[in-house]
Amino acid sequence: MNRTEPLVLGIETSCDETGIGIVRGRTLLSNTIASSMDEHARYGGVVPEIAARAHLEAMQPAINAALGEAGIALADLDAVAVTSGPGLAGALMVGVGAAKALAVALDKPLYAVNHLVGHVGADVLDPDAPPLEYPTIALLVSGGHTALLLVRDLVSDVELLGETVDDAAGEAFDKVARVLGLPYPGGPEIDRVAASGDPKAIRFPRGLSLPKDMARHRYDFSFSGLKTAVARWVEQRTDAGEPVPVADVAASFREAVVDVLVTKALAACAQYDVPRLLLGGGVIANRRLRDVAAERASAAGVTLRVPPLSLCTDNGAMIAALAAELIMAGREPSTLNFGADSTLPVTEIQVAERGVSEGGAGGVARGVVVGSVVGGVVAGSAATGPGQVSRA
Ligand code: KG4
Ligand code: ZN
Repeated sequence: MNRTEPLVLGIETSCDETGIGIVRGRTLLSNTIASSMDEHARYGGVVPEIAARAHLEAMQPAINAALGEAGIALADLDAVAVTSGPGLAGALMVGVGAAKALAVALDKPLYAVNHLVGHVGADVLDPDAPPLEYPTIALLVSGGHTALLLVRDLVSDVELLGETVDDAAGEAFDKVARVLGLPYPGGPEIDRVAASGDPKAIRFPRGLSLPKDMARHRYDFSFSGLKTAVARWVEQRTDAGEPVPVADVAASFREAVVDVLVTKALAACAQYDVPRLLLGGGVIANRRLRDVAAERASAAGVTLRVPPLSLCTDNGAMIAALAAELIMAGREPSTLNFGADSTLPVTEIQVAERGVSEGGAGGVARGVVVGSVVGGVVAGSAATGPGQVSRA
């Protein structure tokens, strides 16, 4: 295997995007994404079963498109990479089954990696950015996760400082959009209507930000109280027969989310004495979030890194990039003894590394998927961990 500039194909299916990415070392060759978002729109959120079926249908065309874009053949690959978790169990299983089938059929090494750490890994593919320095704080915000990480080393040392205790930030945008009668996905819609609103019109609550929360939840997030507060506010107006100032509500809600995200991320930078903050996840598309983060980071002497949006949303390139980093760092491939793990902890950057899991190290082979290829169809039977409906 080429360990200097490995050619890696990454498969990402943790939520509603079938992402296939191909990288050569730190160079991005292709990043194809097939999204089932439209199929979820009428339900107001991602439906796991629909997402899993869509992955199955999109997998082969997406792989072919990525190979075509990169101008390579499967035989050229040094390795295959896949998201093992966290994410929707059924959706993850499709990617894991496909990756195992590819790796076995091609006799290529397989790297099973962590989705959240993959979001951080996307940063190395940004051709315009200087190399990522460590340690760095990473704030990952999407429809499925909201997490604050302390990354001391991308391939060996990632610590979870905090995460959402209920809804993810993007999920809150989607739910509040519904309350305001706006379509799914709610983030871009709220952004649009908030442009003409006053962010100070209504003071909505900042979850887990009171002094009493600091002992146990300093870096955790909570958005469900905020969502309820918005719903109540709108309801009271409606009941009183008064018009709902949608733009002001959207702007004030967005301000509450942005404020709490940026405040906690910069507090982590200060407490851990880390003058670097990396943003990732689909909610980064939010202009106000990027502006407030840039403004406050600069005032705090923190360098802000925001990868291009195409690398911030869920994609396969970040999975390939993380695997390439593991390969360049000399890490062994994963065995086939891993599965879709919906609650994979962020400390497990790579799962089932050969020589580690074989020795029976605890907690590595969580939830075994037995993937087999039957008449060209990838079938997987699985035993996954708890929390199968959690999203990432
Ligand atoms: O990372 P992502 O593409 O994938 C999943 O979570 O699957 O993130 C999608 C989420 C959705 O919840 C969407 O509402 C949110 O990101 N989002 C935004 C914006 N654009 C997308 N949230 C706030 N402001 C935006 N402009
Ligand atoms: Zn994600």
